[in-house]
Amino acid sequence: VCWRQIHRCMSQGSSRGGSPGKGGPKRKVAVLGAAGGIGQPLGLLMKLSPLVTDLALFDIAGTPGVACDLSHVNTQAKVEGFAGDGELGKALTGCDLVIIPAGVPRKPGMTRDDLFKINAGIVKNLCKAIAEHCPKALVNIISNPVNSTVPIAAEVFKQAGTYDKAKLFGVTTLDVVRARTFYAAKKGIPVEGVDLPVVGGHAGITILPLFSQATPKMDMTEKEIDTLTKRTQDGGTEVVQAKAGKGSATLSMAYAGALFAEACLKGLNGQKNVIECSYVESTITDIPFFSSKVRLGPKGIAEVLGLGKLTAYEKKALDDMAKELKASIRNGIEFVKK
Ligand code: NAD
Ligand code: LMR
Repeated sequence: VCWRQIHRCMSQGSSRGGSPGKGGPKRKVAVLGAAGGIGQPLGLLMKLSPLVTDLALFDIAGTPGVACDLSHVNTQAKVEGFAGDGELGKALTGCDLVIIPAGVPRKPGMTRDDLFKINAGIVKNLCKAIAEHCPKALVNIISNPVNSTVPIAAEVFKQAGTYDKAKLFGVTTLDVVRARTFYAAKKGIPVEGVDLPVVGGHAGITILPLFSQATPKMDMTEKEIDTLTKRTQDGGTEVVQAKAGKGSATLSMAYAGALFAEACLKGLNGQKNVIECSYVESTITDIPFFSSKVRLGPKGIAEVLGLGKLTAYEKKALDDMAKELKASIRNGIEFVKK
């Protein structure tokens, strides 16, 4: 039942914009890190998406098997597996959208920043290849620490002369997915109709759910807001601890990554009013990369939307995150400049 629901849900989504399947635009999507914990279920969800016509699965190893497995699913996307750096160019050529979940995940006791040492270099090299082989593709970065890996990608593209701020996204959709789930459960309402923005970045106190803007609007006490804010901020750690050394969120991340990728494809296909939160180059605060609602269009970001009216609690949280978020951005930029 579940896959049918997912498939129906994704089909309904796509039928609202940019017709899928027959006659729809050709769209090539690459997943880099496709044999991993996120990459495999994300590959499946992309294979189920009627908006995807070609699916390139790249990893350092293991992708021929994953690609063969997924290629038997009777949906339209043509699947190809690519393994090792020598095949990266082929995987990327002709891509409209590149999704990057490549890199190491956290273990209990680690922060996302502890992943910088390994993942910064991985993202840098993958982005160099994107600049060379598909410079006009939209890029969705999942690899942590997102607060730094997105500035790393921007800097690599700047150095290559291909940077377009409308095409680079840090995927923060999992924070939105979590905040929706926790809010609906707390207020005892169906989660399907729930929405709210999550702004800032993607680590600890830089994650700021705006419960004051949640719909449907429900009364919340200050204590409830504080508890749900902290639970959203610690959602990743909750999963890391529950997995007890076997990695971090993979299935919920694949779901969130697929939601965001589909939103990008709908925008490319000309669907109107596609709005999602994402960590992007931004001028809505004095923090140069910031997650907020963005309107997606045929060229990527059509508009970065403002924060709306904030409560005193939210304003303070915004002030509190600024120093950490700016430092993470600086680290990313300096890493590439060095
Ligand atoms: P994983 O270890 O299960 O998979 C990572 C994959 O990346 C592996 O298959 C590995 O071979 C591959 N890889 C490593 N170097 C590569 C390279 N140079 N090119 C291509 N592939 C390469 O890890 P995971 O659980 O899938 O998590 C991946 C990343 O996503 C981690 O950094 C994690 O912190 C992050 N993450 C982000 C969010 C978010 O909300 N943005 C959520 C969950 C996880
Ligand atoms: C998450 O939010 O689940 C991811 O960023 C993974 C992590 O390390 O918490």
